Amino acid sequence: MRIGVFCSGGDAPGMNACVRGVVRTAVGGGHEVVGVRRGYQGLLDEDFFLDQQGQPQMRLRSVSGWCEYGGAFLRSSRSEEFRTHDGQQKAAEILTRRKIDALIPIGGDGTLRGAIELAKLWNGQIIGCPGTIDNDLIGSDNTIGFSTAVQTAVEAVDKLRDTAESHERMFLVEVMGRHSGYIALYTALAAGAEVVCVPETHTDIPAHVAHLKKLQQRGKRSIMMIVAEGEEEGGVELLQKKLEDAGCPFSCRSIVLGHLQRGGAPTPEDRMLAARLGVAAVRALENGDTGKMAGIIGGDVALTPFAETCGGHKLLPPQLLDLVDTLAQ
Ligand code: F6P
Repeated sequence: MRIGVFCSGGDAPGMNACVRGVVRTAVGGGHEVVGVRRGYQGLLDEDFFLDQQGQPQMRLRSVSGWCEYGGAFLRSSRSEEFRTHDGQQKAAEILTRRKIDALIPIGGDGTLRGAIELAKLWNGQIIGCPGTIDNDLIGSDNTIGFSTAVQTAVEAVDKLRDTAESHERMFLVEVMGRHSGYIALYTALAAGAEVVCVPETHTDIPAHVAHLKKLQQRGKRSIMMIVAEGEEEGGVELLQKKLEDAGCPFSCRSIVLGHLQRGGAPTPEDRMLAARLGVAAVRALENGDTGKMAGIIGGDVALTPFAETCGGHKLLPPQLLDLVDTLAQ
């Protein structure tokens, strides 16, 4: 079998470990692997990873040492051209001409939606791997990169707490996640933040102010409020203004962590997850599966149809949302 592998959408720590898992499993099992650079756009441009002989093929040694690095050595992109029907048709023709039998795209929901469209025009097998810091995909308890993004955010919040304590301030810390509050919730819990604002729940400004006053009366001298970027108020600056106008008892500062959360060496958890999913994707192709995402649910590999993984966003565990209040009294 000739298997194409690529990273697409926002890069996520662990993507390299996933490619390594794919290459080692596939090449070790007698298959060929073509590394496509720059995701769907690279496929359209026929931009392939070349081996030392200049052949568009990944070898066992091509991925030596890849598991410990963040970013995407195959590079990644968000392709406008591939969003069009013509682009998808062109990609299908290239795959057929290049005699590629199967694809393993590594990315988030946009990547998997792209795979659904491609499958309508191309006969090859497709098994996706969930590579996104957002952790919003149904079909895997965690996505590749989520653990590292949370670790980075928690380290930042820990540092901000020093200043918050010294100056008796409140920090509003905006984290990524697009429409999902996973990064915000896990960061809040792990960093001992007092408040979390996520897109999944309504942000009640007067209730937050009342809560903050109560916390101050109980002796809290600093507050960390973790705000998901998709939260309804439209960002930390606006939210800070609304809280101040409503009588927030703390002096506030806002910070947006941004792309810091996408970089850095993957945590061991992300490396493990990525490696397991890379292996699982190849095994699934060998078993004749297609149109599914490889994930880990409850410790075991699970294959979930793309239609389900992209059919909605993974819900936040309600018991974890309640925990923030319980722990921050
Ligand atoms: O999907 C990953 C992610 O980092 C989101 O959390 C964020 O909203 C988005 O990508 C940012 O995308 P870009 O890097 O294209 O600005």
